[in-house]
Amino acid sequence: MTLLQAKGLTVTFGATNVVDGIDFEVRPGGTLGIVGESGSGKSMTSLAIMGLLPSSATRAGSIDFAGTELTKVTERQMRAIRGDRIAMVFQDPLSSLNPYYTVGTQIAEAYRSHRSGVSRKAARAAAIEAMDRVHIKDAGKRVDDYPHQFSGGMRQRVMIAMALSTEPELIIADEPTTALDVTVQAQILDLLAEVRRDTGAALILITHDLAVVSEVADDLIVMRHGRVVETGTAEQIFSDPQAPYTQALLDAVPRIDDSIGDLRPVPGGPA
Ligand SMILES: Nc1ncnc2c1ncn2[C@@H]1O[C@H](COP(=O)(O)OP(=O)(O)O)[C@@H](O)[C@H]1O
Ligand SMILES: [Mg+2]
Repeated sequence: MTLLQAKGLTVTFGATNVVDGIDFEVRPGGTLGIVGESGSGKSMTSLAIMGLLPSSATRAGSIDFAGTELTKVTERQMRAIRGDRIAMVFQDPLSSLNPYYTVGTQIAEAYRSHRSGVSRKAARAAAIEAMDRVHIKDAGKRVDDYPHQFSGGMRQRVMIAMALSTEPELIIADEPTTALDVTVQAQILDLLAEVRRDTGAALILITHDLAVVSEVADDLIVMRHGRVVETGTAEQIFSDPQAPYTQALLDAVPRIDDSIGDLRPVPGGPA
């Protein structure tokens, strides 16, 4: 069973296919990692799914989402799907949040747009609950804070809370941890894994960093120059990569045993 299946998905600017006939699928509740270096076509793939490509791009191929062909729906139907069934989390939460509204107002609006006839008071309570759920401490107070009053990691939690407010079947996270330092990255990845477990939402996790998907993804595709060079379960690909490009990417990932090997005893001992 698949929730989303792309076949021959192609995104073209002028004469260049920046996404060049790729196939992949996402299982309900599963996590697909899309990995590749910068410029390989990962973001264009996610924007093609969301129907949010720049107007200078053309899209071809097929994207089946739970039986709906996304390349055939009207803009109005697509807006309904975006606001409701597929949510996105971007790399830079500051550019997706409005600086002039409190985070509570923004989460509450996302919540209300998904449900008709919800009072402001109920939406505010739902926003606090959503902030609690993504482990923002003192949610009852922080709900009235503005985006700039949050750290990068906390802002990403706010974005995840907003994404969850519509109870999506699919969350697309495009480099959600790239702007964060390593410790905070791990916390956000834990949160995404927890969210997936608790809500049953499927996840497409896009990253240039193989270490990021190693913990979270069930299935992987590796992209290069708009093509898929390797596809399989994360386990297969990490233990036995087939494409030379994947091997090169894996060699670039720091391993825990490498760092232990680097901790050589200091000759001579303490003075
Ligand atoms: N508006 C645009 N016009 C022309 N080419 C673009 C445009 N936006 C992105 N591209 C090109 O599309 C390719 C894929 O970009 P992108 O999907 O953003 O890569 P990734 O997310 O993997 O870093 C890149 O080579 C980029 O230069
Ligand atoms: Mg990108």
